[in-house]
Amino acid sequence: MINQSLIIGLIFCLFGIQSCKKVDSTTTKERSSSLSSVEHIEQKVTRLLNQMTLEEKIGQMNQYNGFWDLTGPAPSNGDAAKKYEHLRKGYVGSMLNLRGVENVRKIQKIAVEETRLGIPLIIGFDVIHGYETLSPIPLAESASWDLEAIKKSAEVAAEEAAAAGINWTFAPMVDISRDARWGRVMEGAGEDPYLGSKIAFARVQGFQGSDLSHHSTLAACAKHFAAYGFAESGREYNTADIGTSTLNNSVFPPFQATVDAGVRTFMNSFNELNGIPATGNTYLQRDILKGKWEFDGFVVSDWGSIEEMIPHGYAKDNKHAAQMAVNAGSDMDMESYLYVNELANLVREGTVKEAYIDDAAKRILRVKFELGLFDDPYKYCDAQREKEVIGQQAFHEASLDMAKKSIVLLKNENQLLPLKKQGQKIALIGALASDKTSPLGSWRIAAKDNSAVSVLEGMQAYTGNQLTYAKVADVSLGKTKFTEEVKINTTDKSEFTQAIAVAKKADVVVMVLGEIGYQSGEGRSRTELGLPGVQQELLEAVYNVNKNIVLVLNNGRPLVLNWHQEHLPAIVEAWQLGTQSGNAIAQVLYGDYNPSGKLPMSFPRAVGQIPIYYNHKNTGRPIMPTPSTVFWSHYQDVENTPLYPFGFGLSYTTFEYSDLQAQVVSTNEVNVSVTLRNTGTFTGKEVVQLYLKDHYASVTRPVRELKGFELVRLEPNEHKKISFKLTEKELGFYNNAGDFVLEPGDFSIFVGGDSTTNLQSKITL
Ligand code: BGC
Repeated sequence: MINQSLIIGLIFCLFGIQSCKKVDSTTTKERSSSLSSVEHIEQKVTRLLNQMTLEEKIGQMNQYNGFWDLTGPAPSNGDAAKKYEHLRKGYVGSMLNLRGVENVRKIQKIAVEETRLGIPLIIGFDVIHGYETLSPIPLAESASWDLEAIKKSAEVAAEEAAAAGINWTFAPMVDISRDARWGRVMEGAGEDPYLGSKIAFARVQGFQGSDLSHHSTLAACAKHFAAYGFAESGREYNTADIGTSTLNNSVFPPFQATVDAGVRTFMNSFNELNGIPATGNTYLQRDILKGKWEFDGFVVSDWGSIEEMIPHGYAKDNKHAAQMAVNAGSDMDMESYLYVNELANLVREGTVKEAYIDDAAKRILRVKFELGLFDDPYKYCDAQREKEVIGQQAFHEASLDMAKKSIVLLKNENQLLPLKKQGQKIALIGALASDKTSPLGSWRIAAKDNSAVSVLEGMQAYTGNQLTYAKVADVSLGKTKFTEEVKINTTDKSEFTQAIAVAKKADVVVMVLGEIGYQSGEGRSRTELGLPGVQQELLEAVYNVNKNIVLVLNNGRPLVLNWHQEHLPAIVEAWQLGTQSGNAIAQVLYGDYNPSGKLPMSFPRAVGQIPIYYNHKNTGRPIMPTPSTVFWSHYQDVENTPLYPFGFGLSYTTFEYSDLQAQVVSTNEVNVSVTLRNTGTFTGKEVVQLYLKDHYASVTRPVRELKGFELVRLEPNEHKKISFKLTEKELGFYNNAGDFVLEPGDFSIFVGGDSTTNLQSKITL
């Protein structure tokens, strides 16, 4: 897209017309076109920086929300007039929540054509699991353990969002969490740092592609740095207080993986970590991220998190908050208004070094150059492309593929599933079964309400059976995050009778129950993890008349499912699967797709077990020496184990593992192999998982840790030898000095289909 006024300006300059007074303050188009193609981005950044006033540099560090209140509370002084004024002065470097080519172009035009230097804006948006065509929520995608599919899903999300004018996504969220009470577990990859790192890497690759300047890729943002997922008691935004070992071995690895993948931005977090808010945390941002990991992109604050250092009890006032955030390495202020209002004075009075401002502005400009915004600030603003790309059939196909891969079969007694395709009376029960909004899950800002395929629609595509639907007491679904209260029915049982009547006549009852779309996500912590509202009562009422129930769960977090596991013959974990939800579920129920998902988080037996995670430590009293002994690490009322362990998931076929071999090649290399056989009657995929236990070390190690996995597809009776190589990276760990070490000693290697596998081999290094 060529900008006319720039061309006119350039022509004037070429002819030496004196009115072209912006020589050193040339507009960006002129500047970039006059640079030789070999000139490095760093030189371009430095040259531009040298032309900037202090206020303009600080302007780059200021990010405003679009002109409506979308993903967080707007500050009281956040009036649109002020924002426009700042835009025109070049005091804004980025906008978020602006979308649609027309809107973005309008604002970009102000930055490019009305400011002194014409520096384009970087446009951020929460493209978390898609833009308009939604993929499963990230936790669900993680259950696929399919890195190629996850990467593809991010690629699709990037292409669709980039067509709508966006060039920066606030994703992936790579926070490890062991607490299902925390609503944002839906947005991450679960509890494990190894799986989480692989997924983090894949997502960054998917969003950013191999060419960041391409019009269909986005700059990614690893968030929330750090330990946001360790909020005490699972309560949103709460304090995180964790030790060095957990920080280094569990929290940091996925973040480091995003740096390895070349992620261009980071977001810090709302929480304090060990007494210091992440936003004002020099150790996290300067020492670790920009120092040890040599990250050369920029760090954006979370929404208002600079200002929030005041209620945290860390900053005295606005000025103090701005000072501490910038000194600690927060480069861009999202919606606190504090950089734009306070930083210039802080620099003038010497409290903040100008070098920090230069460094922050440089980092932001670098990413803008890499995105190609200086070559063409409107490259993401092609109305024709927007029309053609958004909602493409290919995106729906990718979304369906990802959705099927994300489903986890938790129970299937007497092969109730897959359902027979002919001659059956099927009762479909539950408001979520016809719901076309909830499956979109949380973070669906650009998706249209009612745009998901419902389970009812998905099942209606199979016409060989008689399908009867009983909706039963609607849920109120909430249109957008702030404009409509999210409610779930807690009282109305008036339609139970109808559901029971339908169930009585059925051969099989499919019940779709769980959480509505906005019951998980930001600000959606819960203390109870059962089925909300009257759903449990409904389930039991139906069970009393027909026990042949397939429970299909729609939820954004692990739930407590003891009754269900004990009583129901079949349970399908279908999360919130996005736009193609109903088709994916129906294809799995009818056996056109054999489920292969494995849980990325442990499902507790009771909320009181939380935090519960497979890679815990052993304690000095791990097991009961004799049945009568009290004094060992346990509960009186519930056993220690989760109901469904990490890595667990069934298939319509069965797999057998044999012949595990572990061979020490050298002190830092071990080869492992195992044979996997499909012993059932369906073609199926299995996630072969390798766990390591380091028996003793200078810092105690978990009872076992995932260190490898492979997704293997086998025909019935086919077998395959699977090999793994363990190197220093898998065999070592971070000690409490933060050094990565490999200590010789005894190790056990476990291989199998979930984290409780007993097939093991011992080695000594
Ligand atoms: C969230 C971030 C998000 C930001 C912008 C915040 O409330 O914590 O993850 O990117 O809002 O929408």
